Amino acid sequence: MLKSRLAHHLKLKYPIIQAPCAPYSLEPLVAAVSNAGGLGSLSAALQSPDKIRNSIREIKRLTDKPFAVNLFAPQFPQPTPDDFTNKQRYPSDDILDNFRKELGAPCPERYTPRSFPFEDQLNVVLEERCPVLSFTFGQLPDGAIAKLKQAGIYVIGTATTVHEAKILVYTQNDQDAVDAIIAQGSEIINCLQAGGHRGKLRDTKIESQLGTMSLLPQVVDAVGAKVPVLAAGGISDARSLYASFILGADAACLGTLFMLTKETTLPDYHRNALLSASPDATQLTRAFTGRYARGITNRFMDTMHNSCLKEEDIPEYDIYSARTMDILAKAKADGKADEYCNMWAGQSFGVGREFTNNGTLSAAETIQKLVAGVENLSKQSFTQQ
Ligand SMILES: Cc1cc2nc3c(=O)[nH]c(=O)nc-3n(C[C@H](O)[C@H](O)[C@H](O)COP(=O)(O)O)c2cc1C
Repeated sequence: MLKSRLAHHLKLKYPIIQAPCAPYSLEPLVAAVSNAGGLGSLSAALQSPDKIRNSIREIKRLTDKPFAVNLFAPQFPQPTPDDFTNKQRYPSDDILDNFRKELGAPCPERYTPRSFPFEDQLNVVLEERCPVLSFTFGQLPDGAIAKLKQAGIYVIGTATTVHEAKILVYTQNDQDAVDAIIAQGSEIINCLQAGGHRGKLRDTKIESQLGTMSLLPQVVDAVGAKVPVLAAGGISDARSLYASFILGADAACLGTLFMLTKETTLPDYHRNALLSASPDATQLTRAFTGRYARGITNRFMDTMHNSCLKEEDIPEYDIYSARTMDILAKAKADGKADEYCNMWAGQSFGVGREFTNNGTLSAAETIQKLVAGVENLSKQSFTQQ
């Protein structure tokens, strides 16, 4: 395999990261990937602090290899209790109420926040001395990265533009800089724009977001001399993995591909969509959480997109994601999840489907197939003999 600073530092056999996929990359998948020589990532962002602690302890029972825990950076300004009531109505609320009527669900007077308090989640990661913490959705609160590093935890941030990468890497004090950066292309994107993020991270229009093949080498040029750059977005077989190394990636993060392996806890409706949807069935959408992410198109997404809402008619992540949770839960309970629930998927999910033989490979078999494929490709000569 190619030389990797991250793999060397964390003592990984392969520079292959199972990207965090909330809420489905849990203990069995994380441990299977780490045991197979990659880096597993626990998707802890939507878990309570107690659940995170239990998950970390269970992973440590299943593997003695390093693994990562992934959290969402909190959004600023933080929502107030009133934000979770109907005190302020948004144009999107009428459409959400229509969905409730369709499902025979009551319109709540108070909404439940999707996230748990970030400080409490972070404290568990610190107390349990996780080997790696990765985060997305912007910047961590002041002092958090320094605390993690002091505890010997390797910190990985996520950037969707060169500007964001520079902010996370070139900080005033080195103790506040991330140890590695994920360059996440628009093939998947948990876009940092659309409200609420703090400080210096600048809004980038969704139309301007770059795909991995364009973003990755630019991030490598901008920050690669200081920290390892990890590629994410659209890597679902050995060809794209090899291509990411050629473009300067130090390691690669594969999300959708590992969602297709045997160890995921992906529910059937989502798994069936990955196994049967047309390869061009994904769209970037704010419909489910208020933040851009890519998912397989369904009726809920189509209805929101066709409702002529403007960008500002949907509130930001914390407020909006709390307003859709009861609808998605009712749809799941009624067996209608495929019509109403988010089914996140990268643009190359069809490639991943082929690569995993229609979702029949284990995580270890998938890693072995990736490694063999990259080794084979790296032997090929450019000139015809
Ligand atoms: C189902 C799903 C859930 C995701 N949840 C998270 C998450 O909790 N945290 C995060 O940083 N990224 C999340 N992502 C993005 C992945 O970590 C990763 O960057 C992305 O999947 C890479 O693109 P690919 O799917 O084309 O490999 C998610 C992706 C998927 C498909």
